[in-house]
Amino acid sequence: MTTSAIAVTGLRKAFGDKTVLDGIDFDVPAGTVFALLGPNGAGKTTTVHVLTTLIKADGGTVRVAGYDVANDAKAVRSAIGVTGQFAAVDELLTGRENLQLMVDLSPVNADKRIVDNLLERFELTEAADKSAATYSGGMRRKLDLAMTLVGNPELIFLDEPTTGLDPRSRRTMWTIIRELLADGVTIFLTTQYLDEADQLADRIAVLDKGRLVAQGTPDELKRQLPGTHVRFRFDSVADLDMAARIFPDSTRDDDALALRVPSDGGTRSVRGLLDRLDEYSLNAGEFSVNTPDLDDVFLALTGHDTTEVPAK
Ligand SMILES: Nc1ncnc2c1ncn2[C@@H]1O[C@H](COP(=O)(O)OP(=O)(O)OP(=O)(O)O)[C@@H](O)[C@H]1O
Ligand SMILES: [Mg+2]
Repeated sequence: MTTSAIAVTGLRKAFGDKTVLDGIDFDVPAGTVFALLGPNGAGKTTTVHVLTTLIKADGGTVRVAGYDVANDAKAVRSAIGVTGQFAAVDELLTGRENLQLMVDLSPVNADKRIVDNLLERFELTEAADKSAATYSGGMRRKLDLAMTLVGNPELIFLDEPTTGLDPRSRRTMWTIIRELLADGVTIFLTTQYLDEADQLADRIAVLDKGRLVAQGTPDELKRQLPGTHVRFRFDSVADLDMAARIFPDSTRDDDALALRVPSDGGTRSVRGLLDRLDEYSLNAGEFSVNTPDLDDVFLALTGHDTTEVPAK
């Protein structure tokens, strides 16, 4: 049996009369990466704040690392690490001093070499003794995550860990996240980037207007879409004509002698299509299963793309 690192049921949160989380449920098995995906203002940070005990929910139950966030906030805090959306780095201190401060504040007796080890791991050794005010956004983000790791948390919350990072720094961050996962750490991250969720997450939940509009593995989400289809290419117009009659739901591309047949892309469904062609002794010279990417998923699930709809 896998244990849940996070178990959320019926979570509700409003600010005044504005409902931000309207009853959301999800479960994160220990040792996995869970990505909460949503555009600006969807409620990602609010979710992180509730899960990390920074704000109280209005309803529902939330268990983190086995403890109830409402009744056992202290136990939750000792089990988790949080890297907020906005860096918690003290600009007046150097990178090394920021890390040392976390070590000094940590209730756990850390290894003496931990500061040096973390500086090295995050490629910050050279800049270690410069004031954090001189750090670039990416360096700050890395220092922030390094500070989170001081207490050796079993569960880490990363609120948009790569927003604003250049492609190289994003990749470094992804590598570090994968290393943490390999060490057995559970990771809850929020992101606006579909490719990031696709790259990192075991499971993704899509948050839109206070509700989870979809949940699943990246592949499951892609397969849920009406847009998933099998494309056949035939050798003659006659074959294309006959295939189009066999599959009345299909759309044809006469120039390419191709037919797009809706399918969930699963083996059973694809086999069914191939069997039908066989029955009519039709041979397709080429076929491919086309799954939409996560941007298409978002568009289909929410009716808008990942950018916030501008106010009228
Ligand atoms: N303390 C607060 N008081 C009132 N409204 C708030 C508060 N915190 C958040 N909100 C509102 O709740 C909604 C969700 O905000 P939240 O910060 O959770 O979104 P987000 O998904 O993290 O967005 P972003 O991608 O921009 O970080 C927004 O409309 C925001 O204005
Ligand atoms: Mg946010």
